[in-house]
Amino acid sequence: MATPESPYGSSVAVGGGKPVRVHHLAAAKRDGVRLVMLTAYDAVAARILDAAGTDMLLVGDSIGNVMLGHESTLPVELDEMVVATRSVARATKRALVVADLPFGTYEAGPEQALASAVRLMKAGANAVKLEGGRPRAASVRALTQAGIPVVGHLGFTPQSVNMLGGFRVQGRGEAAEELLTDAQALAEAGAIALVLEMVPEPLAARVTESLAIPTIGIGAGARCDGQVLVWTDMAGMTEWSPRFAHQFGQVGQALHQAAADYGAAVREASFPAEKHWFSS
Ligand code: KIV
Repeated sequence: MATPESPYGSSVAVGGGKPVRVHHLAAAKRDGVRLVMLTAYDAVAARILDAAGTDMLLVGDSIGNVMLGHESTLPVELDEMVVATRSVARATKRALVVADLPFGTYEAGPEQALASAVRLMKAGANAVKLEGGRPRAASVRALTQAGIPVVGHLGFTPQSVNMLGGFRVQGRGEAAEELLTDAQALAEAGAIALVLEMVPEPLAARVTESLAIPTIGIGAGARCDGQVLVWTDMAGMTEWSPRFAHQFGQVGQALHQAAADYGAAVREASFPAEKHWFSS
């Protein structure tokens, strides 16, 4: 339903209408309320996605391939993430804003992770996300102790695409136990939530059951505590989207049509009309 505050309508569950904060995530898991997360990279999209009741907005380093035209997330710079995080945070009223630590800004250890995370928090993030399991536990602990909430990310971790040999499902066979141990280590180190990307559905369910913190799945089945999608995949902005995504709209087609209609109106001189100009 549209409200004076939100022309797009809203549907709010987590946080009871208040801004979503870290303590609401564990409460949502406890109460069996599913968490809704989408990526956002700028103020225009963030305003719409936030008003639609999205619980968490992820300023993902997927900005690299989705918005900046790179082949992967690897070239994304911390400065680019800071600009995107500022834009999203300024436009967000309710959602918890999570910003990705990009490749090369945290792997050296807790000191580097802290310096990078501080920049994202100063830009307006409410939490940061980093990829990897046990080797990242010390950094998760250091950030948590510094007052910076951390979301973990296991399974297919795009920043390790070269090591993983491509976009492949992770955690099959014996690797399942490794992933479970990683998940436990991140939770024990203080992570507030865990993204599970491209892991078999039964494994995602096991991880979800074994943790007190919520899991947020992408290509990990329906038994996670929440779901995340890249917003352009969700909205149907592109011709192709991954198998695990679903296009809930055809925004790309609508934009194409709007631009074509505008072009036609300018060419046939039906735009601008008198109501669009100033007579004196
Ligand atoms: O950067 C991103 O968009 C992500 C999601 C795929 C979880 O990390």
